[in-house]
Amino acid sequence: MAVLPGDGIGPEVTREAVETLRLIGEIRGFSLDLTTYPFGAEHYLKTKETFPPSALEEMRGQDAILLGAIGDPRLPVGMLERAIISGIRFGLDLYVNLRPIKLFAADLCPIKGKGPKDVDMIVVRENTEDVYAGIGGFLKKGTPDEVSMQQMIFTRKGVERVIRYAFDLARTRAKGKKLTLVDKANAVGAMELWTRAFEEVGREYSDIAKDHAYIDAACMWMVKNPESFDTIVVSNMFGDILTDLGAAIQGGMGIAASGNIHPGKVSMFEPIHGSAPKHAGRNVASPIGSILASQMLLAYLGETEGAEMVEESVAELFATGKLRSAGTDSGVGTREQGDWVRQAAKRRAQSPAKSS
Ligand code: IPM
Ligand code: MG
Repeated sequence: MAVLPGDGIGPEVTREAVETLRLIGEIRGFSLDLTTYPFGAEHYLKTKETFPPSALEEMRGQDAILLGAIGDPRLPVGMLERAIISGIRFGLDLYVNLRPIKLFAADLCPIKGKGPKDVDMIVVRENTEDVYAGIGGFLKKGTPDEVSMQQMIFTRKGVERVIRYAFDLARTRAKGKKLTLVDKANAVGAMELWTRAFEEVGREYSDIAKDHAYIDAACMWMVKNPESFDTIVVSNMFGDILTDLGAAIQGGMGIAASGNIHPGKVSMFEPIHGSAPKHAGRNVASPIGSILASQMLLAYLGETEGAEMVEESVAELFATGKLRSAGTDSGVGTREQGDWVRQAAKRRAQSPAKSS
């Protein structure tokens, strides 16, 4: 597995995720073979190298990639993010950005009166098209006549494959077997492609209830009636925005994890938070997002029991109130939170019946 700890709090949270994977390996009988990559701001400032093509080629041969966080205020906005995060997403054609939004304890939710039974959904964000595709630029830059543009690109193949993935995923969900398409087809005419693809692919999934919401309304419903969502499929940029809102209702950026997936191929797992430079090196960032990213990695590789053990251990810490927040105000250090997850996992391994 490739490990890319990255910038800011990335290395601290990634260390806890890797230690957790090591423990699960001991319990479940597998070992980790890690290749750690130095890419990020420090490496760039020293070498002027962002993300070489050779690293991407090496990663193709791995089973999975675990990424910490990328971004540093000393460098031009988005430079490293585009080179490394987008470099991996696009380079490996990781067309699904999977983001579970699951609340472990009512206390974590900022919405009055909502608890774990209300907030349990999963967002399938398209990950290789839209304004992220990089088609755009400037004309007459820096002059009063400047023009800037960035194209919102959707392809039939790209839209169809992610919609199909979402329908298949909806089928596996215990909750609702319902898929909601989120778009802005009322204002962005080109999004009619999503409307048609959803309808056509949807005919093959007569067992799945279909729903639709415009992105602005979806933001409103997510706060007002989060229980009305189960599986959501959404374009790249709207999905980026919607899932930060989703993270907020599940307990904040410290808790949310994601998988960048191309089914059957090497895929990349990361917390959804950024590098949070001001918290770096202070042992205050929560490693839970990264630990849950490693849980998604285990599940993706078919290590279902190990993945369940991690998720249940995290859930237990919040449900019992031992850990009250995944914010930097939790009063529990990065390392300590990691230790607590691993202690819970060990207990589960020793007496699985009693700990549930
Ligand atoms: C995310 C992030 C990235 C994105 C940034 C860092 C480029 O916000 O993974 O959600 O916009 O996809
Ligand atoms: Mg984002």
